[in-house]
Amino acid sequence: MTMKNEKSVRIAVFASGNGSNFEAIVQAALSGRIDARVVLLVCDKPGAFVNERAARLGVETFAFRPKDYVSKEAFEWEIARLLDEHEVDLVCLAGYMRIIGPTLLGRYGGKIINIHPSLLPAFRGAHAIEQAFEYGVKVYGVSIHYVDDTLDGGKIIAQKAFEYYGDDIREVESMIHAIEHELYIDTVNKLIREKKQ
Ligand code: GAR
Repeated sequence: MTMKNEKSVRIAVFASGNGSNFEAIVQAALSGRIDARVVLLVCDKPGAFVNERAARLGVETFAFRPKDYVSKEAFEWEIARLLDEHEVDLVCLAGYMRIIGPTLLGRYGGKIINIHPSLLPAFRGAHAIEQAFEYGVKVYGVSIHYVDDTLDGGKIIAQKAFEYYGDDIREVESMIHAIEHELYIDTVNKLIREKKQ
């Protein structure tokens, strides 16, 4: 991540669903826990709950339907234009269930990070918590990584693991989400601090 010599880092969050990580990042920015501003939400599902959170929190939103565009390249150009316009320094994927294509990676590669609810490289893709639970793992975790052109691939920045011997997937989910919200903020903070040194 390279950024301009200004006080607050400008973050765009991409999300497709509930948006609890989006809200955690916005609240951390609003409270000053991270020296950043969330300037844009990008959402590929206009009906997703994350859009309601953004409206309540006053975050500008670009919600689009991929099928309204002729190609992935076409909607990624539109997103890249908005990121440029908002002078975005860092893109945080937070439950954005699409692979980032060459158009966005070409312009923003190295500035895009993703959170994933498993200890990568295990259990990539959708439903990672269910995959791990069904596999019977006893050590669960969360990973944050730079994004490349592969599914949940790219250099790992941070991971946090915990042991769980129970049999309640809802309990695992809530433990993972609680860890995600903390780890995402801590990691964004770390990246900002490193770049300011
Ligand atoms: C999070 O658990 C995130 O790690 C996961 O989607 C969830 C979004 O939750 N992402 C992936 O699985 C990426 N492959 P949220 O909408 O409440 O932030």
